[in-house]
Amino acid sequence: MKARNTFAIALCALTFLCNAQTVIPIETKDFSMVFKTDAQHRLWNIYFGKKLKNTSDYKQIDEQYYFPDANAGIYNSAYTPSGTWNLSEPALQVKHFDGNRSTELLFRDVSIANQDGATVTKIKLQDPVYQLEVVLHYKVWSDLNVVEQWAEIINNEKGKIELNKYASANLFFTNKDFYLTHFQGEYLREMMPTEEKLTQGTKTVESKLGTRAMLLGTPNFIVSFENPVQEDSGMALVGQLAWSGNYKLEFDIDSNKNLRLIAGINPYESTYELQKGERFKTPSLIYSISKEGTGLASRQLHSWAKSHRVLNGNGDRLTLLNNWEATYFDFNEDKLSGLIEDTKHLGLDLFLLDDGWFGNKYPRNNDDAGLGDWQENKQKLPNGLGYLVQEADKNEVKFGIWIEPEMVNPESELFKTHPNWVIKQPERSAKLYRNQMVLDLSNPEVQDFVYGVVDNIFTKNPKVAFVKWDCNAVIYNAYSAYLQEKGMPQTHLYVDYVQGLYNVLERIRKKYPDVSMMLCSGGGGRADYEFLKYFTEFWPSDNTDPIERIFLQWNYTYFFPAITMDCHVTNWGNQPLKFKVDVASMGKLGFDVDVNHLTKDELEFSKRAIKNYNGFKHLVLHGEQFRLASPYQNPYASLMYVDKNKSKAVMFNYLSSNRFMERMTKRPIKMKGLDADKNYIIKEVNLNKNDEGSFVNPVKYSGDFLMTVGINPEINVKRTSVVLLIEEVK
Ligand code: GLA
Repeated sequence: MKARNTFAIALCALTFLCNAQTVIPIETKDFSMVFKTDAQHRLWNIYFGKKLKNTSDYKQIDEQYYFPDANAGIYNSAYTPSGTWNLSEPALQVKHFDGNRSTELLFRDVSIANQDGATVTKIKLQDPVYQLEVVLHYKVWSDLNVVEQWAEIINNEKGKIELNKYASANLFFTNKDFYLTHFQGEYLREMMPTEEKLTQGTKTVESKLGTRAMLLGTPNFIVSFENPVQEDSGMALVGQLAWSGNYKLEFDIDSNKNLRLIAGINPYESTYELQKGERFKTPSLIYSISKEGTGLASRQLHSWAKSHRVLNGNGDRLTLLNNWEATYFDFNEDKLSGLIEDTKHLGLDLFLLDDGWFGNKYPRNNDDAGLGDWQENKQKLPNGLGYLVQEADKNEVKFGIWIEPEMVNPESELFKTHPNWVIKQPERSAKLYRNQMVLDLSNPEVQDFVYGVVDNIFTKNPKVAFVKWDCNAVIYNAYSAYLQEKGMPQTHLYVDYVQGLYNVLERIRKKYPDVSMMLCSGGGGRADYEFLKYFTEFWPSDNTDPIERIFLQWNYTYFFPAITMDCHVTNWGNQPLKFKVDVASMGKLGFDVDVNHLTKDELEFSKRAIKNYNGFKHLVLHGEQFRLASPYQNPYASLMYVDKNKSKAVMFNYLSSNRFMERMTKRPIKMKGLDADKNYIIKEVNLNKNDEGSFVNPVKYSGDFLMTVGINPEINVKRTSVVLLIEEVK
């Protein structure tokens, strides 16, 4: 990414009122986004599309368009202010120190720096009347076509100002047609896609739930240009607002049929005050742009996430046995010791103790009491967690633990001792969600408490190797006693909550940089790239019916690499165990079953499948992912992961609908990502005992054949899932 017109830029930095029009291209390998100033020094977004060969051509682009500013304001402002000439949806709304609500932003200067293998362009804008500065940041990983952008708002005015709306990004696209895919849902039905053609007006995707912000909808989206979404062709933008609280994405088609995207923290009840000299950094909008459809867009985003974002993104992950569905709250030391032995017996890496291990005065024997009292329940665990960690050690497996430290049951010692630590309207009765309330993380004392929950566990049990961090309630009755006491506005709560949580996670990671942590929120109510700086993985949904999981996991793959996605085999669904294991093997594999209930054959199968998974997991966790056949377009789903050298791959094929009880794959499925000039042998794994499989004797094919003709995995009602290993032969 290069800045042209360096002289003009330097001059502008010095004089501010320079006459030269400045052109600022932000370039990736294949795309560019171009800004240009007008005669009044306002900054326009004049281009977003395929990169041009000569950057000097960019300055002529806007002459070819009609970008009027006469009727409803300049639609293509780089960061649309409000209260002056602009009458379209703003990115920024400010009440200045003197109460005035009008803002104008003029270009001041631009600078470019290299940071973490990326290029960061900072564009400084300033109000000519007020000492208000906005710095737009564009961080670009050029080779990956990935952009992270955010804004910083700086109050240099004479006194306090109020930010009423403060978007992270204000993008502008001039294509002809736009198709938006957004992902909505509810508990057990997370991440359900809807694609729609955008028409004039605004489509809003937002959350006001506070904590479990993604329960009903997510800040993930795909914009497809000119045509509906395609996997391997067409321009597509796959993006996410990386913010773990209330978000708002506005897709606004203006009267000239251009698309404006304004994305940021939801301004709903979130006016934020900035004292003189203070600055506000918005969360990031992160997106991958592709000229070859969503397949490439996802792969670019996955590579970025693994190398530049997710904690230990290129590292390993632990397979595990979770006791939640095997025991729920009903367990004791003996039962757990048995499960720890089962963990070893199955060949899994770690035993994860779920909810129900804590609380004495208010024992956690159900979900209506004990949350907040993080001391071992003496009846269930007379010898404490330490004993279980030792048991795990003895069995040469690791030990992990479930916590939900942001929440409290009213029936708990914590609540009785600190009623003021809870988010609740003082004059109204409490409204509970899953019998619990949310702790007020805007309060530093509460932050210390939450940090302490984790710190105590590790201090007492340094060998704990995994934490499942849950969050099961939304914020009702938003009110903070702490903010009130400090004379701070209540409208800071939604934002300060999330920032308070990030503070805690930051502290945890400082002291415990490596330990694996799973982000869970009653299933998929939380997963974003700000959280994933601190977490190694997330739990996509409590719905573990493998048929539903095919769709759910498929949808998550657009945004998240397999290494972040926890997939467990459970009792949900009445499909054969093989099917469940094969579906869970497309992500990070885990088990949540009562091992005693498995038949001898199932047990043997599980052991074999876990061994197989360990053999190919480097492909799933570190390979490139190719979606081959969508369950939305076929009665089956197929996807594969290929290693960097294109010498090894694993392909998963699942029957996702058997309405017609017929042989489903009547045609081959074309593979992707292999080398056409190489030869490969294909071998089927995870076969049931006595099952011959179709590829039991390795068959040899050329890469060209596999990608042009494809192979038929022969999925049918008797073979509902087929896992194939593909290996290069010389
Ligand atoms: C949530 C999680 C489950 C389990 C329970 C425990 O629902 O999603 O996996 O941990 O809480 O109460």
